[in-house]
Amino acid sequence: MDIIDAIKNRKSIRGYKPDQVPKAVIMEILEIAVRAPSTMNTQPWEFFVLAGEPLRKTIQGCAERIRAGESPHPELEVIGWTNDSVYRVRQVDLAKNIFQVMDISRDDKVKRVAWMERGFRFFDAPAAIIICVDRSLSEAGPLLDVGAVMQNICLAALHYGLGTCIHDQGVMFPEVVREHASIPESKRIIIAVSMGYPDQDNVVNKITADREPVEGLTKWIGFP
Ligand SMILES: Cc1cc2nc3c(=O)[nH]c(=O)nc-3n(C[C@H](O)[C@H](O)[C@H](O)COP(=O)(O)O)c2cc1C
Repeated sequence: MDIIDAIKNRKSIRGYKPDQVPKAVIMEILEIAVRAPSTMNTQPWEFFVLAGEPLRKTIQGCAERIRAGESPHPELEVIGWTNDSVYRVRQVDLAKNIFQVMDISRDDKVKRVAWMERGFRFFDAPAAIIICVDRSLSEAGPLLDVGAVMQNICLAALHYGLGTCIHDQGVMFPEVVREHASIPESKRIIIAVSMGYPDQDNVVNKITADREPVEGLTKWIGFP
């Protein structure tokens, strides 16, 4: 796949076929992905790849906690915007888009909660990559590097017919992931990337999230 096509075609996949992803394929994807640039080539990323029973137990543990009303407590706080910000508007637009496609009405609390739970269930993907960094590193610095490798994973996955969804919901109960993925305390859990063969019959995969026009986000300095 051409690089421009890959970037344009990548989208978050939130419905998967149950087919297992071979370890060799994920290995190849990671080998490609780690060609990502990193600060002074520090390559701070570490991967814990889950499938089978450990992933099932992780999903069960996270789903149980969210259903019991436990507050999510990620090791990395990602939501830092206020309700009157443009970021909140974009978040709400995405949710509206998803609920419309899924035919979930505004007052259908049961379906809304069930949908929200799906992120904590890793969208029932057959595989998930948990990306961690060593706690000896600064909290913010390695995030830029993790972002680069994370995008590479998602793009490389397309080559193998795989879909992905980057989701912090998967690491919002870090103690559950830590236990079932055997992640030592010395590693900070950053993000989850669910992976599997996309279920094209699942309407949620029909969503294409909007983008702001670049013109509004860009200042051109020194151009004629
Ligand atoms: C750091 C990060 C965290 C995300 N967390 C979630 C999540 O918890 N649940 C979810 O459904 N999508 C999550 N996403 C996916 C975004 O919602 C998605 O990338 C965005 O809406 C743009 O859509 P696209 O990926 O289909 O282009 C996350 C993406 C990133 C980069």
